[in-house]
Amino acid sequence: MSSSILITGGAGFIGSHLVRLFVTKYPQYNIVNLDKLTYAGNLENLKDIENRPNYSFVKGDITDLQLLRNLFAEHKFSGVLHCAAESHVDRSITDPLAFVTTNVLGTATLLLAAKEAWDGVYDGKVFYHISTDEVYGSLGEEGFFIEETAYDPRSPYSASKASSDHMVRAFYHTYHFPVKISNCSNNYGPFHFPEKLIPLCIHNIINNKSLPIYGKGENVRDWLFVEDHVRAIDVIYHTGKIGETYNIGGHNEWTNIALVKELCRQMDEKLGREKGTSEKLITYVKDRAGHDLRYAIDATKLKNELGWLPSLQFEEGISKTIDWYLANTEWLNDVTSGAYLEYYNKQYS
Ligand code: NAD
Ligand code: TYD
Repeated sequence: MSSSILITGGAGFIGSHLVRLFVTKYPQYNIVNLDKLTYAGNLENLKDIENRPNYSFVKGDITDLQLLRNLFAEHKFSGVLHCAAESHVDRSITDPLAFVTTNVLGTATLLLAAKEAWDGVYDGKVFYHISTDEVYGSLGEEGFFIEETAYDPRSPYSASKASSDHMVRAFYHTYHFPVKISNCSNNYGPFHFPEKLIPLCIHNIINNKSLPIYGKGENVRDWLFVEDHVRAIDVIYHTGKIGETYNIGGHNEWTNIALVKELCRQMDEKLGREKGTSEKLITYVKDRAGHDLRYAIDATKLKNELGWLPSLQFEEGISKTIDWYLANTEWLNDVTSGAYLEYYNKQYS
């Protein structure tokens, strides 16, 4: 193995795609996936690669400094791809401290463990922090987030991610620690936990349950297929500059209501239901507290400097995503039973 890389949160949605890409594309890398397996972490997401010789899994918490020290000592990581986080805005509204613990304290602990292990020898080392466009706050009808946009987080989730980004940059400026950061727009695709809008609606359409739209459904998100996101991470990890931030996005803005109607249209076709059947499930519910109006990313820097572009048009990506959920109803049923049911009933009662 030419080098060992620690991926945190690799059993989650984006992390599992990232682990799969690195394990299969780079057999010369030893990939260690550290994940606490919260409700959002699921080893089923990695069934197809779990027996690869260059992959191993460790169950553990990124706030556990001693565990991190042991892992760095054992594997001599030269890279860290940090995905682990609490990631759902609605949960952050009811339990902000969980977000501070994992996203802020966890990131700081991981930085410290890597700094201790690398001990000032930073040549060939990379600490890559995976972040979100939500740190920039909420846009009006016009404009885009660029890398220099001032931070203006407005939910406990985005505030915790902003705080972790600041900590990562503080290590770069204070210790010349070798960091890279990317801030990406909303992702969608296979293995997306059905608490988020797209998989929640796919699940509910399959089961003829109502489709809860917050407020008037006019909020706008910029959606990117998850495989395009992890391809961008690969490019930035290998060719991006130390100390730099890169925005990742698909120039693919949808209001929530238009997006859900497109889902309904495609699912009626795929399920052989009469046109308009699923749209009848749309239900407007109480708005999310502090609901950000619009996110939209300008990813020009990534395109011009590193040559990355999204590969999929949205209608095609959504079609692939729906097909995956229809073919994997067992996965969907497994993750929507148990603790998730309790959350769902509380959130939407
Ligand atoms: P996710 O919730 O699906 O997965 C998070 C993973 O982290 C889970 O496997 C969970 O078990 C693990 N985890 C949580 N707390 C942990 C801890 N204390 N120690 C170790 N592991 C822990 O999240 P996701 O959607 O895959 O997001 C991954 C990263 O990408 C996050 O940092 C998120 O902020 C960022 N991001 C997400 C999106 C998106 O649209 N989902 C967009 C941009 C950026
Ligand atoms: P979500 O998938 O939670 O991502 P984020 O809040 O990180 O953007 O939500 C996407 C959009 O969909 C957001 O504007 C909130 C809205 N939404 C609903 O209208 N109903 C829902 O049940 C959920 C979960 C989200």
